[in-house]
Formats: sequence, C-alpha cells, structure tokens
Amino acid sequence: MILSPSLLSANFADLGSELQNLEKAGINWLHLDIMDGAFVPNITFGPPLIKSLRKECGLFFDVHLMIEEPARYIDAFAEAGSDLLVIHAESDRHLERTLSAIAAHKLKVGLALNPGTDLGVLRWLAGDLDLVLIMSVNPGFSGQKFLPASVEKVRSCRKLLDSLGCSHVVIEVDGGVCPENAQELVAAGADVLVSGSAFFAYPPYATRSQVFQSACKPRTSPADAWKTRYSRLV
Ligand code: DX5
Ligand code: ZN
Repeated sequence: MILSPSLLSANFADLGSELQNLEKAGINWLHLDIMDGAFVPNITFGPPLIKSLRKECGLFFDVHLMIEEPARYIDAFAEAGSDLLVIHAESDRHLERTLSAIAAHKLKVGLALNPGTDLGVLRWLAGDLDLVLIMSVNPGFSGQKFLPASVEKVRSCRKLLDSLGCSHVVIEVDGGVCPENAQELVAAGADVLVSGSAFFAYPPYATRSQVFQSACKPRTSPADAWKTRYSRLV
C-alpha cells in the first residue's frame, strides 16, 4: 500500500519542515488538494505553492484537482512540478481531451469519482488512465466521516478495471481514511490511501506511517493463528 498524506492537514506555517519530516519518515507520495471555491465549497492553493514545494523535496506529487473545467489549468500544474494530475469526472464536459492533455505532458493520469458518481464512465476511459481516485467523502474538507459504501465501490472498481484489461490501473481512496478502515480498503483493492487528519495529527510520521502499513496486513483469524503455531510444533 502507498500512503499519500494530504498536505491540507499539515502545518501551513512551516511547510518546509513538514516536507523534510515526511521524507525522513520514508514517505514517498504527497497528496495536494486544489480547491477553487466553485467545484467544492472551499479554496486552497494553486500552482505557485506547488512550484515552491517542488524545489524543497523529491516526493511524488499526487495533485487532486477539485476545480471546474480543469483543462484551463493543466499546463500550469504540469509546469509547477506535478507528477500525477487527477481530474474529477464531474468537472469537465470533455474528459478524454483533458486526460490526453495530461498525458501529453508525460504525467501520470488520474480520474476521480465523487461518492454519487457511477463507475460506468471508466468503461470508456480506463484505457487512458494510470489511476482511479474513489472519493470516500464528498470533496471539500479534510476531517469528514468516511462513507462505508466506498468499500464496495472499490471492490467493484477493481473488478471492472480487471475485466477491461486494465489491471495496471491503480486505485486510490481519499476521505476519512484511517488505520481502522485501511485494511478493508486494501482487501477490496485499494493501492493508494490518502490520509489528512488521521495522519498529520499523530506525529512522529514514521511511527504513524508504520501504524497504517501494519493495519493493512491481512488479519489472521484465531483458527489460522492456531494452525500456524501448531505447524511449528510438528
Ligand atoms: C477532501 C480532500 C482530501 C482530504 C483528506 O476533499 O480531497 O484529500 O484532505 O482529508 P481526511 O483524510 O482528513 O479526510
Ligand atoms: Zn484529495
């Protein structure tokens, strides 16, 4: 499992140290939430901040665009130093064109689906994607409650992608993710877990990252645990 901490919950007054601490903790991805006050009821930051952060670290920049008509800003986010650009299926009338524009910049291509959006769009676009982002809250804010139906959606998404010959497309889950629901998400097919409030509020980051990783290991039933112990005796 890849953990992608969401910068939205970091200490904005000291972002340089936050980045250093993440890298020291062995974190590889950073989730950057771009909100425009129109697609979602909140405003965050844009390409200039990403450009500054890019100079400070080598983290993989997982950029989540919660903006209307993202096609207008693909060049700016690419030039700022994004590695993966994720657009929302609900934000763009010409998705295929915008996904191709991301690929033309040699960036990884992602498509996000709001909780109420059906997986059906993937039938026609999966071949253009590197990643599908399943939103497990309605986007706009960190610290919201995880929507349990997301687990089944991840499972169906994995099945659909595999059936379309797109086993290489990875699934990311974003919103209300914590060690308590990480295991069922990974078991359902999630490859990347975004975490904001359940990550940054629990330093040190290396320990917290370990908590997430351990939580994702398959749980052994008491019967299986006994079988393992018994097998060592005989
Ligand atoms: C929500 C954002 C998320 C958010 C996650 O709209 O896309 O990335 O920062 O924060 P938590 O993990 O606190 O829900
Ligand atoms: Zn996000």
